[in-house]
Amino acid sequence: MIYLNNAATSWPKPPEVQAAITKSLSLPVFGSGRTTGTEGEDYITQTRECLSSFLGAEPPEHIVFTHNATDSLNILISGFLAGKKDECHVLTTALDHNSVLRPLFEYNEQGRIRLSIIPFKGSSVSPEAVEASIRHDTRLMVMTHGSNVLGSVQDIRAIGTILHDHGICFMVDGAQTAGHIPVNLKNLPVDAYVFTGHKGLLGIPGTGGFFLRDPESVSPVRFGGTGTDSFSLMHPRGMPERFEIGTHNYPGLAALAAGVKFISDRGLHGIMEKAERQTTFLINEMKKDANITIYNNQPDLPIIAFNIKGLKNDDVGFILARAYGIIGRTGLHCAPLVHKAIDGGEGCVRLSLSWCTTDEECRIVADAIQEIAENANY
Ligand SMILES: Cc1ncc(COP(=O)(O)O)c(C=O)c1O
Repeated sequence: MIYLNNAATSWPKPPEVQAAITKSLSLPVFGSGRTTGTEGEDYITQTRECLSSFLGAEPPEHIVFTHNATDSLNILISGFLAGKKDECHVLTTALDHNSVLRPLFEYNEQGRIRLSIIPFKGSSVSPEAVEASIRHDTRLMVMTHGSNVLGSVQDIRAIGTILHDHGICFMVDGAQTAGHIPVNLKNLPVDAYVFTGHKGLLGIPGTGGFFLRDPESVSPVRFGGTGTDSFSLMHPRGMPERFEIGTHNYPGLAALAAGVKFISDRGLHGIMEKAERQTTFLINEMKKDANITIYNNQPDLPIIAFNIKGLKNDDVGFILARAYGIIGRTGLHCAPLVHKAIDGGEGCVRLSLSWCTTDEECRIVADAIQEIAENANY
């Protein structure tokens, strides 16, 4: 099997990640409130510190762990709006994933916000288009850092600078960028940055979180046990307890720290360079056949979205899997407005590479796609 569906969830996980899960389950967890044992490790604090230094996100307590990127976006968006009495104007983009669009459309339907969707040109949303969409009552913009279909990284520095000049809160969905490109939140005009554990960070599904610069800007919307300040019937308001409830997925968090350490030890730049070289190779090979439409010839992330003339994207995916053992993803990739713009809403085939994709695998994939395209009925 050649697995090229890493933008959905990365596989395989490094052996160190698998070992971290086993190790975390071999002793009772330490550091969960009133645990009296001194054996074992405090995985939660360790992972918080590890991500804080990997993402330049200070202080570590402003990193909150959740179930995934979608959960993080829901907490942030609903918590931000909970603190606003009047209806306000919110911005997002046509590049965004349903994890951003659906919570915002829900609040738009309820009349809690007025939503504007900024279109993209080529594969990017321009800072000028963002500036032109700002109104006197715009309070929030939520947008993706990297498109999960087009593989383009957005200029969040320029966009964030404009938004901050207008006093607008900026939340960024980093589901496709964390672990793939360097992110230094210390120097970025971003108020909240969302990450997921199971993609580029090489952890497991059901882990993720967010960094929030100013905790007071978002009201807590979930309450319960934290293992701290237990006599109080009100949920603690300090970080990270303000947003964290119940028992953590500590084997998952141990895996997340191991994934981040794996990337740091190998070197993110080396991983990026290899991914870039292999992605360019595949695109150049596919470009040789005029019947293959590639939706972004120069992605910043190792993601290739394409269709073959005369074949449905589902059929291409089926043939790739059954005849060649190549696993990609087909259809709509949870980003309906991207598909509306690029493929008329029909969807496309997406191949996404990882740290362990080999040059030999890329050669096999290029040959397979060429063979399928040559045999298609136009
Ligand atoms: C851009 C983007 N945002 C959000 C998500 C949702 O991530 P999660 O599975 O962690 O909720 C994904 C992945 O599916 C994504 O590609």
